[in-house]
Amino acid sequence: MAKLNFGGVEEHVVTREEFPLQKAQEVLKDEVVAVIGYGVQGPGQALNQKDNGINVIVGQRKNSKSWDKAVADGFVPGETLFEIEEALQKGTIICYLLSDAAQIEYWSKVKQHLTPGKALYFSHGFGITFNERTGIVPPAEVDVFLVAPKGSGTSLRRMFLQNRGLNSSFAVYQDATGKARERVTALGIAIGSGYLFETDFKKEVFSDLAGERGTLMGAVQGIFAAQYDVLRKNGHSPSEAFNETVEELTQSLMPLVAENGMDWMYANCSTTAQRGALDWWKRFRDATSPLFEELYESVAKGDEAQRSIESNSKPDYREKLEVELTELRESEMWRAGKTVRSLRPENN
Ligand SMILES: NC(=O)c1ccc[n+]([C@@H]2O[C@H](COP(=O)([O-])OP(=O)(O)OC[C@H]3O[C@@H](n4cnc5c(N)ncnc54)[C@H](OP(=O)(O)O)[C@@H]3O)[C@@H](O)[C@H]2O)c1
Repeated sequence: MAKLNFGGVEEHVVTREEFPLQKAQEVLKDEVVAVIGYGVQGPGQALNQKDNGINVIVGQRKNSKSWDKAVADGFVPGETLFEIEEALQKGTIICYLLSDAAQIEYWSKVKQHLTPGKALYFSHGFGITFNERTGIVPPAEVDVFLVAPKGSGTSLRRMFLQNRGLNSSFAVYQDATGKARERVTALGIAIGSGYLFETDFKKEVFSDLAGERGTLMGAVQGIFAAQYDVLRKNGHSPSEAFNETVEELTQSLMPLVAENGMDWMYANCSTTAQRGALDWWKRFRDATSPLFEELYESVAKGDEAQRSIESNSKPDYREKLEVELTELRESEMWRAGKTVRSLRPENN
């Protein structure tokens, strides 16, 4: 593993140079990798593995759009696409990629098929870390590990097709065969990870739950909404408020941050903008810090997991989510966004 220095802290990272695809293919040559669930991660991980020459099958309930999608993506019913139970029986490595709530529901079936020597693979530390709530306690004779791509399954696939890799975390929870580490590393490479960062199940799930509720999704919408509302209250038009809150950020500034960091983005803005940003960022940090502390505590206590289990286990959870997503979509800010986006050349 390569040793890299992260701001003075040394970490180990697995690279594709030291663990090339050929090595992954060799490690997995006698395995049947059963990807259970064809939602968002399932397609990305299954297709990338298939294209990487891994013996992969998909387990998905029938009479579902996800089944149809698997067929459209080239998985053949009865050959490489099966009902969940059949795939569980055939797989030697079970990639458990049902939604976190469905994983609880299906656990008793999965457990029956976890015969000694098999491996149970997750893309999230959720089920294991919160096993007092999920009931997911694997038998001692199987390997248990995770590879958690740090991004959507859609991005995992897109980046693979562009010959780029998405970064992933990996962790071993249980090494029954003595081969858990090489199996998980091989899978991490085979699904299309660029770099593999080592963690443990608890840290993966705590950081993931905090991150998505925080800057990645929750907090970002919160500060967008706050700034947009203030601009609107002060007489700015919807287009002006949207452009100054979202459009400039996503189209112009974030690509610069992604390329070379925040100071690089600042350096490419006017000195007026730089002066203001440098004066204000610490105030935003200080104002939001207590909220991030509260969020982390809620994650660490298991409250966020509990809420997610309760709401996503209800039969009408998809409909309820859709109501909330519609509310966002129909807010003035995002309606303004739709109009602004419609002006882009690719939409004309
Ligand atoms: N979304 C991401 O990009 C992402 C990123 C990193 C890690 N992860 C992790 O990857 C895992 C999979 O997440 P995901 O987002 O891909 O899940 P998802 O899109 O919600 O996938 C749902 C899958 O679970 C099936 N499913 C849901 N409820 C079911 C039920 N009651 N019975 C049988 N099947 C059911 C769905 O089948 P139907 O279509 O038939 O309902 C579909 O195949 C999770 O552990 C998640 O935390 C996800």
